[in-house]
Amino acid sequence: MEKTFIMLKPDAIQRRLIGKIITRLEERGLKIVAAKMLNVTKELAMEHYQEHKDKPFFEDLIDYITSAPVLALVIEGENSIKLTRKIVGATNPQEADPGTIRGDFALHTGRNIIHASDSPRSAEREIKLFFNDDEIHDYTMLDEKIIY
Ligand code: PPS
Repeated sequence: MEKTFIMLKPDAIQRRLIGKIITRLEERGLKIVAAKMLNVTKELAMEHYQEHKDKPFFEDLIDYITSAPVLALVIEGENSIKLTRKIVGATNPQEADPGTIRGDFALHTGRNIIHASDSPRSAEREIKLFFNDDEIHDYTMLDEKIIY
């Protein structure tokens, strides 16, 4: 089963959206195999977003991600990387379709409430940045045989 990395950004926590966002992922049949609330340090934020370090928005992005706790998750499921990106919606919430998380709950790219890995390579890298192996759980859902 494919694993991906999801992060509920500070505004999702501060707007009390944790439950609503996680419900969407669970109701789609995805499985949460790791979860952690943490304050992202400046170092971790810069490492996580390293590929954007030369972009004009980089400093704002680092300030945003370090401004309050985030909820980091590892999500498992068939084709979970593509599927979670679809559920999350376009980076700019104004372009995100209604029915997606950003399309329903966000207005600005600078406060777009959730991050989802965009490729198997970034999923692997980001999971390793936020979680140790022993924090990622291997278990069976009661209805797993029906879903898969
Ligand atoms: S790019 O230039 O296309 O590679 O960048 P993009 O994929 O659109 O965005 C990369 C991440 O930066 C976030 N972003 C911003 N944050 C704060 N302020 C502004 N203006 C801004 N523009 C882009 C964007 O949400 C991406 O982060 P994640 O966490 O992957 O959504």
